[in-house]
Amino acid sequence: ISLKPYNTFGIDMVANHFVSVNSIDDLKQVLSLKEYKNRLVLGGGSNLLLTKDFAGIVIHVNLKGIEIVSQTDDFVYVKAQAGENWHNFVLWCIENNFGGIENLSLIPGNVGTAPIQNIGAYGVELKDCFESCETISINNLQKNTFSKAECKFGYRNSIFKQEAKGKHIITSVIFKLSKQNHKLNINYGTIAAELESMQIKTPTIQSISKAVIAIRESKLPNPKDIGNSGSFFKNPVINKSEFNKLSSNFNNVPNYPVSDTEIKIPAGWLIEQAGFKGKRFKNYGVHTKQALVLVNYGGASGNDILNLSKLIQNTVQRIFNISIEAEVNII
Ligand code: EPU
Repeated sequence: ISLKPYNTFGIDMVANHFVSVNSIDDLKQVLSLKEYKNRLVLGGGSNLLLTKDFAGIVIHVNLKGIEIVSQTDDFVYVKAQAGENWHNFVLWCIENNFGGIENLSLIPGNVGTAPIQNIGAYGVELKDCFESCETISINNLQKNTFSKAECKFGYRNSIFKQEAKGKHIITSVIFKLSKQNHKLNINYGTIAAELESMQIKTPTIQSISKAVIAIRESKLPNPKDIGNSGSFFKNPVINKSEFNKLSSNFNNVPNYPVSDTEIKIPAGWLIEQAGFKGKRFKNYGVHTKQALVLVNYGGASGNDILNLSKLIQNTVQRIFNISIEAEVNII
């Protein structure tokens, strides 16, 4: 089966076997088939780059459903199944006036894969509203619950990218959302500017979502039109002395402090300075409006894009002495 419809990069690779699971029982059954040991678990396919055919079974997690688990006057606990489309879930919350994830509007992918990399945008990360998630352990098919602390969330990171990698399949996530007195996050520069241009004086979760959608649509390519996986790289975190060296060699380096000693540098800036923004090589390249995003204009191979990413990494290393790490999973 071709995996082209199942990855937002639109790479045409094939898998020997493919199954879409709609229930936990189906999932357990597939995991218990000993002949299919080589597994690739897929959600929305929005954070991976396929560089070769997959000689195993692809398990497409297609569990659906959204339900309110409990609530108080101020908060609601909502459980969403892993196969729910992330943005549809955000819109459902906004329609119900449940606040907390409006800044994460229009992020591609599914609910069940969002915790793996602790998706984040415009000053909010998934962890800010995460209560817990349920998983099926691949080894013994047991159900597990991971609390927020147990997930060890960090910047584009969690236990599911570290010690629990490849050991669990997330089946559902519970979010803690506000019902009133929403804590709005409008500090991220571009959001405040967008709300102003929309002439919104008293922002709501609804208008913030609209602002985020407008910003994303203006900068990020829609995978339906141009294949991509969002940010290809993570923003590197460097220490103060490295930063001082960098800013003595380059003017106006954009930077975000992460702690007293560490500073995050936008990889998009490094890549743009290195001359790659908007560069096109045959049918793939670097997005014209956001240098952090690599794109497949149609028919590129995973290796084309992987090689481009290596060229970018090496060039950034040579010019800035900073190593940038891929954010997407390379298969
Ligand atoms: N910049 C450039 N050139 C570019 C792109 C960015 O100079 O081509 C510089 C500018 O100084 C700009 C700054 O980088 O002000 C920040 O750019 P932007 O607000 O677009 O955010 P980012 O740091 O490039 C991160 C996330 C995005 C997320 C945005 C908004 C990562 C790896 N990426 O990008 O996440 O949407 O912030 O919060 O942290 C994703 O993970 O797929 C993703 C799109």
